[in-house]
Amino acid sequence: MSVSPSRLVGLGLAVSALALSLVACGSDEPAAGGGGKKIALLLPESKTTRYEALDRPLFTEALKAACADCELIYSNADQDAAKQQQQAEAALTQGANVLVLDPVDGKAAAAVVASAKGQNVPVVAYDRFIESADYYVSFENEAVGKLQAQTLVDTLKAAGKTSGNLAMINGSPTDPNAADFKKGAHSVLDSSGFKVAAEFDTPDWSPDKAQAWMEGQLSAIKNGLVGVYAANDGTAGGAIAALKGGGVTPLPPVTGQDSELAAIQRIVSGDQAMTIYKAVKPQAEAAAKGAVALANGGKPESTTDKNGVPSTILDPVAVTKANIKDTVVKDNIYKVTDICTASFATSCTAAGLS
Ligand code: GAL
Repeated sequence: MSVSPSRLVGLGLAVSALALSLVACGSDEPAAGGGGKKIALLLPESKTTRYEALDRPLFTEALKAACADCELIYSNADQDAAKQQQQAEAALTQGANVLVLDPVDGKAAAAVVASAKGQNVPVVAYDRFIESADYYVSFENEAVGKLQAQTLVDTLKAAGKTSGNLAMINGSPTDPNAADFKKGAHSVLDSSGFKVAAEFDTPDWSPDKAQAWMEGQLSAIKNGLVGVYAANDGTAGGAIAALKGGGVTPLPPVTGQDSELAAIQRIVSGDQAMTIYKAVKPQAEAAAKGAVALANGGKPESTTDKNGVPSTILDPVAVTKANIKDTVVKDNIYKVTDICTASFATSCTAAGLS
């Protein structure tokens, strides 16, 4: 009797599958990382590009490295706190052993924590603080606001300006980080000699709402306007579109945060003065390692604590034209070719980037 090659291949696969399952069953030792656990990552939105472009893939990779056979449950709440609560409940129903939660609404997240704790499921507060979480990983958020504001003031002074009106576009009122960015920024701007002539808290961090607000302000403050504090790159994009649409020339310096590719390109071309680089990789790694430790009944490594929650707090970096190469390019977030597409070729050369 002859056996066809395809059948041999099939047999071979079946034998190796059997061998693999024997290895798995034969060992009393847990797999690398003590896994088999389910970790839920719940991110807040997708208009800000970092979440789908960086946080999600980097956390997925870090979780694999920390625990080869852990399972990732992922969801994105699209800026909707009620949707996020449902996603958290769904993750708990699916047997999540730890929730890694970046809350749309920091206060509403208390209900998620209560529900998780009721099922002995620890919660990692990811990027945004949550009271009574088991671990918190973020950046020095007041420092973000200070760096943004200081760079704005330095840019204005370098252009010979010492007074004039500023517009301030803050983040979402439900995001605890937004309050920290705002506090840090005010601590610099309020004594800078420049005047915060108008200020807005952007619902959901929505770039469209930031743009609409800026458009509405133009007639009132356009004349004396010397600079715009925008809390992140999404709101900066909205502000810049409004300024351009309103014929404001030259564009006043505008701040940002997140080092989104579009913002780095705007910095290269001169439309945006600065952004903030927050290295998401170490943030995702700390969160993934902490989640695995908690899933196995251990304690995450922490360097400090915030309101009694063990925490790892990383440093933000201000990015201007001068240090794009030493920050996002050096860390391989973007290649020069990603930034210097055809329409940015001339400004890239001028910025010493190509
Ligand atoms: C903040 C976060 C920022 C930015 C913003 C909008 O909490 O720290 O990096 O992404 O939310 O989602």
